[in-house]
Amino acid sequence: MKQQYWYGHDFPALVESDGDLAVYLKSNRAEVDQLLKNAGAVLFRGFDVASPEGFDEAVGAYGDDNFAYKESLSNAVRINVTPRVFTANEAPPETSIYLHHEMAQTPIYPSKLFFYCQIAADKGGATPLCRSDILLEKLAMEEPEIVDAFAAKGVRYSSTMPLENDAGSGQGRSWRSTLNCEDKAGAEARLQALGYEWTWGEDQSLRATTPVLKAVRQLDDGRRVFFNQLIAAYRGWSDSRNDASKSISFGDGTPITPDHMASGIRLADELSFDLKWQPGDVALIDNFAVMHGRRPFEGKRRVLASLIK
Ligand code: FE2
Repeated sequence: MKQQYWYGHDFPALVESDGDLAVYLKSNRAEVDQLLKNAGAVLFRGFDVASPEGFDEAVGAYGDDNFAYKESLSNAVRINVTPRVFTANEAPPETSIYLHHEMAQTPIYPSKLFFYCQIAADKGGATPLCRSDILLEKLAMEEPEIVDAFAAKGVRYSSTMPLENDAGSGQGRSWRSTLNCEDKAGAEARLQALGYEWTWGEDQSLRATTPVLKAVRQLDDGRRVFFNQLIAAYRGWSDSRNDASKSISFGDGTPITPDHMASGIRLADELSFDLKWQPGDVALIDNFAVMHGRRPFEGKRRVLASLIK
């Protein structure tokens, strides 16, 4: 595997062993966290995790609190396999899921993500990874005024959620599931508490717009990252209910134009590392430092996820 190399460290970091991943993670926590800090992503290969239950056990052995899908505002349809483990996204194989920080389009997001490949696709299906700090660094050199605008104004996301789950869409999670509520009154109470604005559609769909969220974040170590879902929303939030071009605006309501997005998209594509899965692989991603996505694929692919608070 040919990795990228940034500031003295391979990206992603690679840990290869034929041991038991749960045992490894339990006894090497400090070392794993150092690799994660240096690289932003760690691939565990050769441990050959055999089942979702084995993955669940490994995540449990790592020891941090689980971030439950049920309580998240993720817009992806997902199915829980074990209490800690769920399908990564039920969107159809031909759909690209563009680079994003997990749930950065909501006020509540996980700090780390575990992925597990149970079945690798026949063709395609890699998980592109992109160092968000490097992206921001390069974007700031090319287009300082755009980075300044994103940093100063922040961003608001809008999406239309269906009444029932639509697994045919990457953004198909129903509003009842997304907002973890039973009815319209429950949905409105949750949106109100989160500071969202909303309108109801005639088909009982719900269009919601987030409060102003940061588009650029500074990490504890001083690095700045492009922590948002701008690329994924702008390129991918398109289905029978959603028009991707209407999914994002600056925090002050002014439009985000193709010109605002072009350099960031090109740089992110250039910086992407395609993690080509082998069955039994597990990866750990720092959600603040690294973006991820999903390439289209052919055949059966089963990549499961588990999120850390
Ligand atoms: Fe994701």
